[in-house]
Amino acid sequence: MGINKILIVDDIEAVREISIFFFETIGRFEFLEASSGEEALKILKQHPDISLTFCDFNMSPGNGQFVLTEMRKFTDSPYVLFSTENFKDHPEMLKYKNIYHVEKPLHIEKFTEIIKNALNPYELEGSHEDTTDQINDYLPVHLSLLSTIETVNCPLYISLGENKLVKTHHAGTSFDDHLINKYLNQKVSVLYIKKIDFYLFTNNFDKFMTQNLGKESSALLQTIVSHSLDMTKSIQDDIGLTPEIEKITAQNIDLVLKLCDSDDSLKIISSQLKKAEGSLYSQHCILTAIISTSIGKKLNWVSDQTSIKWAFASIIHDSILPLSLWKKIELENAHDNSSEKLNNLSPAESKLFHNHSTMAAELSRKWKTCPVDVETIILHHHELPDGHGFPGKLNAQRINPMSAIFIVAHHLATDLILKHGELNLQVWLQEHKNLYQTGDFKKAFGAINSGEKAT
Ligand SMILES: [Fe+2]
Ligand SMILES: [Fe+2]
Repeated sequence: MGINKILIVDDIEAVREISIFFFETIGRFEFLEASSGEEALKILKQHPDISLTFCDFNMSPGNGQFVLTEMRKFTDSPYVLFSTENFKDHPEMLKYKNIYHVEKPLHIEKFTEIIKNALNPYELEGSHEDTTDQINDYLPVHLSLLSTIETVNCPLYISLGENKLVKTHHAGTSFDDHLINKYLNQKVSVLYIKKIDFYLFTNNFDKFMTQNLGKESSALLQTIVSHSLDMTKSIQDDIGLTPEIEKITAQNIDLVLKLCDSDDSLKIISSQLKKAEGSLYSQHCILTAIISTSIGKKLNWVSDQTSIKWAFASIIHDSILPLSLWKKIELENAHDNSSEKLNNLSPAESKLFHNHSTMAAELSRKWKTCPVDVETIILHHHELPDGHGFPGKLNAQRINPMSAIFIVAHHLATDLILKHGELNLQVWLQEHKNLYQTGDFKKAFGAINSGEKAT
């Protein structure tokens, strides 16, 4: 049997386009288009070999009911109503057989199931084989990132449910606004690349990093950095810190620095957090950098060099922890920075958590472009002024000023994320006043209080 011929009927061109696009995700078809019921009928008469009619309801001249009624006079081929309207609203349509309904907005999994069902017993020529890959073999790429990168050097896939991915774009696809909007209109916000293609994908990074370093919009910048950090983290969890990952991480740090430059207000941080994209992990890294720099600025301790150090430390400090373990520990145990509260972890997890500051500090030392002091900041990031932190159980006197700022910023960043930006800063300050009452910690803590409120 040849390729199935599909008639797409909708008065809106963009809807016809996206419909075709989704048909192409499940197989190879030939398409005919009509912008009204009357036009559809003419085409149906001219092409008796049409396998399926995919039809809107509200059109003129000739609505969806007109098409069904008229076509049934000469064909019983499948009719799929693609509309917010339901057959129940038009019971006279229900007397016909071989009718189906795909609701708007289109839900890809339901769509696939209905179309495959409707085309049975037709052979789905060119139908994509189910992939044996697991979702874990892929990396999500957000559309906001694709729209920035524009051209992508590797194939892209769409998820049709758990562990079912279908290739939708070849390498070299240009993601212009038109294409991005097609997905957004269908409420698709993420496509996937294969992890093994990550390096191909990152060939585009240089270009977009350069472009975005000049961008004024910190919200856009934050979105891009978050997604980029998430992807990099996911790859790093898999294969460790390769030179390529190191390079991308360095670019991420540049972008974070740019963000730190644009934002020194806790008020802005909080409002941005509410609409931020990306994972809690990337937000945690970004916020820690921004808050450290913000505190530094208020204390007049900040220079280009100190900002770079805090940005480096923010991005690398938890990079040793696999994402799943990071969530389990740093967020769930966020209020207890001590090593005692690790009873719910396996011995291996507990050991990794206890050692992650040391391991990340070592990683930064091996990193050629990493500034001095970053190693110490990372090593100290779970220490507490009262000596109950880890791994060194250092007290305030043994923790340097840059680390003290980072520790306070890290604590606030974690709590801001836990509260989804709805943190009452005055209450937070009151709750932790006793903890941070000595030396550099007191100054860092006081600097937060001297600025705007975070709510
Ligand atoms: Fe940590
Ligand atoms: Fe952390």
